[in-house]
Amino acid sequence: MANTLHLLAAVSCLTLAAAYWGPDLPPGPYCGRTNECCSDRRDSCAHRILDTLCYCDQFCNHTASHDDCCPDYPEVCLGRRPEEVPVPLKQPCRHRGQLFMPGAVRMEDCNSCECVEGQDGLTTWVCQSDPCLVSGEVLARVSQRGGSWRAYNYTQFQGKKLKDGLVYYLGTLPLSRETQRMGAIRYNKEPDYPAHFDSRSRWPRYISPARDQGWCGADWAVALADVVSDRFAIQSNGAETLALSPQVFLSCNRRGQQGCRGGHIDVAWSFAKSHGLVDEECLPYVANVTRCPFRPRHDLVQDGCRPRNPQRTSRYKVGPPSRLKREEDIMYDIMESGPVQATLTVHQDFFHYRDGIYRRSHYGDNKLQGLHAVRIVGWGEDQGDKYWIVANSWGPEWGENGFFRIARGVNESGIESFVVTVLVEVIEANRRK
Ligand SMILES: *[C@@H]1O[C@H](CO)[C@@H](O)[C@H](O)[C@H]1NC(C)=O
Ligand SMILES: *[C@@H]1O[C@H](CO)[C@@H](O)[C@H](O)[C@H]1NC(C)=O
Ligand SMILES: *[C@@H]1O[C@H](CO)[C@@H](O)[C@H](O)[C@H]1NC(C)=O
Ligand SMILES: *[C@@H]1O[C@H](CO)[C@@H](O)[C@H](O)[C@H]1NC(C)=O
Repeated sequence: MANTLHLLAAVSCLTLAAAYWGPDLPPGPYCGRTNECCSDRRDSCAHRILDTLCYCDQFCNHTASHDDCCPDYPEVCLGRRPEEVPVPLKQPCRHRGQLFMPGAVRMEDCNSCECVEGQDGLTTWVCQSDPCLVSGEVLARVSQRGGSWRAYNYTQFQGKKLKDGLVYYLGTLPLSRETQRMGAIRYNKEPDYPAHFDSRSRWPRYISPARDQGWCGADWAVALADVVSDRFAIQSNGAETLALSPQVFLSCNRRGQQGCRGGHIDVAWSFAKSHGLVDEECLPYVANVTRCPFRPRHDLVQDGCRPRNPQRTSRYKVGPPSRLKREEDIMYDIMESGPVQATLTVHQDFFHYRDGIYRRSHYGDNKLQGLHAVRIVGWGEDQGDKYWIVANSWGPEWGENGFFRIARGVNESGIESFVVTVLVEVIEANRRK
């Protein structure tokens, strides 16, 4: 409201200033009313105009701009034909003491504001009003509340809209009904699960760090490539330790997928099974869709990749994916074969996670949401508070070195609703027994 008043005040000042040469002066006549033109200054040789006076004497002709002569002075006293009405000055918009011409655009956090000129010649700012990714409410309330996690104001999210973040920092398209019905494995094994299990300490050097997917909705590609990389190292006892590239999904798995605007997880798993992956050196991740450099039926050598293991000739392929539904089955699978892929529903507060055990806070925006593919690498508990340890793909500066912990056993944000495991096709001679 205060802003609107300011704006109105500024606009009306400008209107007055423009009035002397503007077309909207009160219609005369002034000098023409008495036809009196004076050669020296006399108070009676003046007329009211707006809230001041204009003159019909020749002194008014002396000032450079002639701006205290009555508008009809040249016509009446000098016998000139009335001048054409000058084009009114364009009135600028103002912001923090600066002037902006119509058409100028400035940013207000994540929203752009344009200086727009109406038909009446008046200008106003017209601003977008989308929620931004960074929420003051989440920052203030989550930290104040003393809950199980803390929030942080990440500079990488500054000036971005929430709706765009949900596309380009996530990227998992809704699961089809068919995928949701995918059969689940039940191990029916109840070993003594350790209270803490972290793939990174169980298999040092085999587990991929948290990547940065960049401004590209490729979480599905990143999560799959990293799960498959980890499992190649583990299931080959380290003989095939390598970083597989998510780029092959973006560049070569185009059918039915939307590149940096998102992908289907089931389509990506089928692609990993039939086409196979290549390593990061062969096709580095560039967070964008590029032309696929490979022929579908070629092998790694024909692709021009140089596998370190000389026995490796085919691309890195996986078997059919299966689903895990129960908490114990997920734990068993991780402990036996390595990290698994999962999805969670992301709301605005999640972007602010700094450390602790995440549970959705309901602060910030609760309308917009997106599906996010991640990699569960282990679990633990903190004074009885159980959690999963999960790799995110927003770089190592985010969260706990790129990882986060989230409540376990309660399907928090749907993290247990679609967990996928897969066996990888390591070179037989290296297969872990
Ligand atoms: C008024 O000014 C114009 C141009 O500035 C000049 O040509 C004219 O002679 C002046 N008239 C009088 C009456 O001083
Ligand atoms: C977040 O930090 C930026 C500076 O890095 C600051 O301009 C902004 O006001 C902060 N946002 C909130 C909601 O505190
Ligand atoms: C992605 O590629 C397109 C087309 O080649 C290009 O216009 C765009 O700038 C690229 N984006 C990034 C983030 O590099
Ligand atoms: C877990 O949560 C997700 C979304 O939050 C929901 O769609 C799904 O049905 C839940 N699954 C179970 C087993 O409760």
